[in-house]
Parts: sequence; structure tokens; C-alpha cells
Amino acid sequence: MADQGAIVTARSLPPSVIATLPGGHYTDENVFALEQARIFESMWFCVVRASDLGKPGAFRTVQVGRESVLVTRARDDSIRAFLNVCRHRGARIRTEESGEVRRAFQCPYHAWTYDLEGRLIAAPNLTRMPDLDRVEYGLVNVAVREWSGYVWVCLADEPPSFEADVIGEATARLGDERAIESYDIANLAVGRRIVYDVRANWKLIVENFMECYHCATIHPELTEVLPEFADGYAAQSFVGHGAEFGEEIRGFTVDGSAGVDRIPGVGEEQDRRYYAITIKPQVFVNLVPDHVIWHRMFPLAADRTIVECDWLFLRDVVEAGTDLGPSVELFHRVNEQDFAACERCQPAMNSRAYARGGVLVPSEHHIGGFHDWLIDRLGTGPD
Ligand code: FES
Ligand SMILES: [Fe+2]
Repeated sequence: MADQGAIVTARSLPPSVIATLPGGHYTDENVFALEQARIFESMWFCVVRASDLGKPGAFRTVQVGRESVLVTRARDDSIRAFLNVCRHRGARIRTEESGEVRRAFQCPYHAWTYDLEGRLIAAPNLTRMPDLDRVEYGLVNVAVREWSGYVWVCLADEPPSFEADVIGEATARLGDERAIESYDIANLAVGRRIVYDVRANWKLIVENFMECYHCATIHPELTEVLPEFADGYAAQSFVGHGAEFGEEIRGFTVDGSAGVDRIPGVGEEQDRRYYAITIKPQVFVNLVPDHVIWHRMFPLAADRTIVECDWLFLRDVVEAGTDLGPSVELFHRVNEQDFAACERCQPAMNSRAYARGGVLVPSEHHIGGFHDWLIDRLGTGPD
């Protein structure tokens, strides 16, 4: 890997472009294993919408790096996360993606049983093992934070600052701490969720989200709503900038028709604008006046990424059964167009034509910052 990096930096390129990562970074199992260890298992990782865990005992299992994580709601209503591994002989506690238990998780192998706080509470012949500490032999805890109605976990022994790494990214992008709070994301309701199984490396999806050089080519509906996107400059390359709706556009919908009720906290300066935020490594947030589109990525392999996308609206709007179709359809098409583009690139990452990578044009230069960040993370720290 270091060798490939050296080749890239040794390339002589015209001044208007800068190098991408070499193709191997998108296919190499060793690179992906390093990313699992030093990125997904080391940083805060957004796993579920808190409202998906509606009551104590509701659970979801999610893949975070190389680990399966069991996320649940305990009896005191707090959200807990554990490594999904039985402390007896290692069986997966739950294999379903989601479900509900009444008061405990029982391992299907020899019936060791854990309460919703992860303590070992029962096992066949447990009374004959009085020396077995029920907390020490409980499920292994994972750090949990809730923000904007989402649950984030961190597998690191000493998690990094959530304020700096997660909230700080959103603040840095919008240029103001309160800007994201005005959307009151925690209190919005999920109007629609679509899960995409994308046959592409997670970094291609991040890079695609960060630039708009492709907008004029592949996003006809989006550029209709946000005419400035046709110029290829992504809102993300300017701090605090939101792309303005076209004059004739009434809402952030597939046909420019009026959307639904505006989120009350959204100020005049945020009205009729679209803001996009990348929270590394695996969250995209899209803000428009009447809804929020929130992507969570689950990288499963070097060439496969599951993307869960939620469309969040005011609770009243969702409960009234309002037609959300035109609003959802716009970004659903954007997602399909973007993911098709990423899938078109993925097979070529192995091509000898791309061994040294490609180039970033001026409107994509900020992606270079993502590459620098990635190389820095892969190059340091324990596995
Ligand atoms: S492996 Fe879980 S009870 Fe034995
Ligand atoms: Fe796009």
C-alpha cells in the first residue's frame, strides 16, 4: 500500500488536477481490513434510529467493522450496545437483523441468559459456579451516544470525543453550532426508509457525495430543483453555503411541486436551501426546509456497502398520512443515480488503467482532504 502511495505522489500531474487514491485502495482486502480496524472500529459509528428501538427489549444487530453489535433498549429506557457474542463458548446471541425480547437475551446454544443491561442472570447449573462474576461474564459493553435521534456506538476502549468528531463535523460544515439544531432532527419521524445494497467500496460513495461535478450529467431532477448544482460546485466545498432552490421551484420534490409543512425552527436564511454534511466515516445528512434525509453506511466488504437512508419529516406530517411520495422520490432517484455511478466505477478499480488512480478536477479538490484523512488514519495507531 505504501508503495502504491509513493507511485502516486511521484506522478507528475498538470497543476489543475490532483491525484486520487490508487485503484487498489478500493479493492484490496488488506486495505479494507485496516479500515475496519482503524476507522469503523475506532471511531463513532452511527447504527440505528433510536425510535427503531421502541420499547425495552427491542433490538437490532448491526455490522461495525469486523464485529456484530447488538443494540437494545434497557428497562430504564436507556440504549445499550454489546458485542453480539456469548461469553460461554462464543455463539452469536442473535442472528436476526431486528426483533424483540421480553426481558432477557438467551443464547440458543447452552442457554446462558443475559438481562437487557448485559449481566449474566441465568445459566444451567449456574448455582454450582458461585465464583462466576455475573458482570464480568456478562455481554461485552460498547460505548453508546445518542444525537439527533440516532444511536452511535464506538468499539474503541477509549472512544474519541463525540463532540469533536461527530457534532464538530456538522458544525464545521454549517459554520454555526445552532444551524443543525434548527431542524430538530431528534423529534422528526421516519416517513420512509429505503435500504440500498451497493456493490461498491464505501469510499467511492463518500467521494461521490462530496462532489457535484457529476450533477449535470446524472441528476436531471436535482439540478432542476437546485440550478447552481449544474455548474458542478457542490455546496459542501463552501462552509455554511446552502444551495438555493430555483425560482420556479416550490419544494424539494421530484417535480418541484410544494413539499410538506416546514420544520418550524428553520430560519429565513435556511429556507429554500439544501445543505449537505458528511460526518466521517459513514453518515451523510441532507437538510431541506421540510425534511431531513439521513444516510448511514455499513461497509461489509471492499466492494459492498449497505446504505440505509431515512426520510425524516415532522411527526404530525407523518401521522396525518400526508403524501410523502414527491419528496421521497427526489432523493431516492438521486441515490439510485449516485449508487449506479459508484457501481460503474467499482469493477474498474482493479483495471491496470487505474492502478495509479485517476485525477480530481478543481471542483473536486476538496476530496483530496478526505484522502489525506484516510491515509493518515490507516498509517497510525494499533490495529
Ligand atoms: S455458547 Fe452461549 S450458552 Fe454456550
Ligand atoms: Fe450525486
